[in-house]
Amino acid sequence: MEPVFGEGDASFRAAGGEAGIRRLVDAFYDEMTRRPEAVLIRAMHPADLRVARDKLARFLCGWLGGPPRYREAYGPIAIPAAHAHLRVDGAERDAWLACMRVAVDAQPYTVAFRRYLLEQLAIPAERVRVASVAAREGTDRER
Ligand code: HEM
Repeated sequence: MEPVFGEGDASFRAAGGEAGIRRLVDAFYDEMTRRPEAVLIRAMHPADLRVARDKLARFLCGWLGGPPRYREAYGPIAIPAAHAHLRVDGAERDAWLACMRVAVDAQPYTVAFRRYLLEQLAIPAERVRVASVAAREGTDRER
């Protein structure tokens, strides 16, 4: 029977556990470094991506129902608020998701899990955009 993604650690296991998630995140940041339309979002990151890779991989472990590796190392996090200082509009959100699509497609995942994962990632990606716009509108009002 197909696992029900989102239940227990089914998604974490489908993603290949911690090692699989690290491979996904490496492919994601490799694509961000390569892809012309991702230049803007790559430039928001430090030159050295080691910490960014570690943070995203740890976050995804817990987010996919596995162990809470991000919190263990870095404490609590709210994804929209953690990005509110960045300028993320539709183009930046789409570039982020495009890198994820390439990374997901490079993994040995089933078609069903690929589709599920990309649909789920689009939700926080859109929240990041909304938080970024709201933070800028708040700044405008204070002027
Ligand atoms: C929508 C487009 C997105 C862009 C452009 C973006 C960009 C960034 C950047 C530039 C950083 C480093 C921030 C810094 O060093 O100040 C970062 C951190 C991070 N991002 Fe994103 N991100 C996006 C969406 C997401 C999504 C959807 C997730 C989760 C599913 C995510 C998870 C993380 C995590 C866990 C960190 C580390 C945060 C911290 O420890 O402060 N990001 N992101």
